[in-house]
Amino acid sequence: MDDLKAKYLTQIADAADETSLEDIRIAAVGKKGEVALKMRELGKMTPEERQVAGPALNALKDEINSALAAKKAALADAALDERLRSEWLDVTLPTRTQRRGTIHPISQVTEEVTAIFAEMGFSVAEGPRIDTDWYNFDALNIPGHHPARAEMDTFYMHRAEGDNRPPHVLRTHTSPVQIRSMEATGAPTRIICPGGVYRADYDQTHTPMFHQVEGLAIDKDISMANLKWVLEEFVKSYFEVDGVDLRFRASHFPFTEPSAEVDIRCSWEGGTLKVGEGDDWLEILGSGMVHPKVLEAGGIDPNEWQGFAFGMGIDRIAMLKYGVPDLRAFFDSDLRWLRHYGFAALDVPTLHGGLSR
Ligand code: PHE
Repeated sequence: MDDLKAKYLTQIADAADETSLEDIRIAAVGKKGEVALKMRELGKMTPEERQVAGPALNALKDEINSALAAKKAALADAALDERLRSEWLDVTLPTRTQRRGTIHPISQVTEEVTAIFAEMGFSVAEGPRIDTDWYNFDALNIPGHHPARAEMDTFYMHRAEGDNRPPHVLRTHTSPVQIRSMEATGAPTRIICPGGVYRADYDQTHTPMFHQVEGLAIDKDISMANLKWVLEEFVKSYFEVDGVDLRFRASHFPFTEPSAEVDIRCSWEGGTLKVGEGDDWLEILGSGMVHPKVLEAGGIDPNEWQGFAFGMGIDRIAMLKYGVPDLRAFFDSDLRWLRHYGFAALDVPTLHGGLSR
């Protein structure tokens, strides 16, 4: 028994890993291990012999088991120590000294717009880019065969035959978020929703994916005058000037009544775009008083509440502010363009700290 004990305790002490430790366990105290075999011999012994050998064998078994457990814990500790030694990381080291990435102008402008409207009490709402045609059209008073559906160059999602889910589209504007946010919070409400939208269109001022920011304000006594003031304040803050010429043109949208499109005075002289001067106008947004049917679709009583809404092209106003002549460049992923037009990562726009450099 002393031989057995010496043999296994040495083996355990020398075991290099958990697999060899397990082999030792099976050979020593496993069901068919040496200690078990010895225990079987107890039957052939005299009662006197058995009284001595029985407890001694049990003690041996316990001793080997606890040596195994202790070694297992020691191996695990050693493995952890080794990992801690090899996987260390000094988080206090300086980051790359040379700044590589930049914030895309669209992200920057989205932050700027959000900061300005937040100051006026608007919170940010969001909706899905793939939406049902009910949210994108019907709820906005654009029924099935309304010409506005065709005008928007809608991308429809493919539907397999027998698919009974409602038709989905890539949202053609951020206006469906008007409905979603009315459903979510009811009235009164004041939200903006910045995000990507899609239309099949491609030229110097149109790309198939672009960005809008929707605005929606609903209360008991909101009027066109509030809309005009909010937009003028926005444009002054955004372009960081005292005044910019805006032109409100009577227009038509199925979801607003009355409706107005807003243009901003600019010049394209010499191929460069300048805001606030010249004889050209660039349309930057559509707006109006929310149509009673739209309020109803959003679950709001049009006899009690009214409000304004607008949808503005984020890419358009980014072009205007940062002098980007071709909208398509925003989506070319040209690194030289991004380095030139991009913003420093820590340059977070705020009204008090300055919107842009
Ligand atoms: N959704 C309209 C568009 O994409 C813009 C708009 C929004 C007009 C809200 C009026 C009110 O052209």
